[in-house]
Amino acid sequence: MKKPTPFLTERQIAKRVKELGETIARDHKGKGLACIGVLKGSFVFFADLIRNIDLPVTVDFLGTTSYGQQTRSSGDVKITLDLSVPITGKHVLLVEDIVDTGHTLHYLLENLRLRKPASLRLCVLLLKPGKLLKPVPIDYLGFTIDDRFVVGYGLDARERYRNLPYIAELPESAREEE
Ligand code: IMP
Repeated sequence: MKKPTPFLTERQIAKRVKELGETIARDHKGKGLACIGVLKGSFVFFADLIRNIDLPVTVDFLGTTSYGQQTRSSGDVKITLDLSVPITGKHVLLVEDIVDTGHTLHYLLENLRLRKPASLRLCVLLLKPGKLLKPVPIDYLGFTIDDRFVVGYGLDARERYRNLPYIAELPESAREEE
């Protein structure tokens, strides 16, 4: 099958990720940072981002599900994998691939705040502002995009395309072929 055409290239992504990492490091200067990636979609972005944050960092992951096999959020978010260590009293950076309806991050931020971190900031690679149903306070944002379904750089359509090194739009026809 034909590969989807890039919408954000490797070069554009790398440049923006470097800028985000540098800003995050500047904002947390002199502190350690507990970086938390939301699985699975953020894993590629997360790996690149932490290598651009020049601070003592620890890494951990949260697994969530809200889409099942669908390409639309059900709004019913569940944690499928919890953190391996507590975050109480720590400076925390939550890292997510994309905000669509906002359900996932709204739920996760509330959940993490209850664990009483010293600070909690949010870094998101992609935002589709037209789709937001819940308020999500993003501290560090990669790119704002239109309402399109995108894949690659960790993002999937039914578990495919995560290994594309760039971000591409997946046309409706290709989604139906899946
Ligand atoms: P939300 O809860 O509706 O904001 O959806 C967030 C989650 O949905 C993200 O973590 C992604 O896993 C998934 N998602 C939303 N939009 C897309 C997309 O365009 N491509 C791939 N996954 C998406």
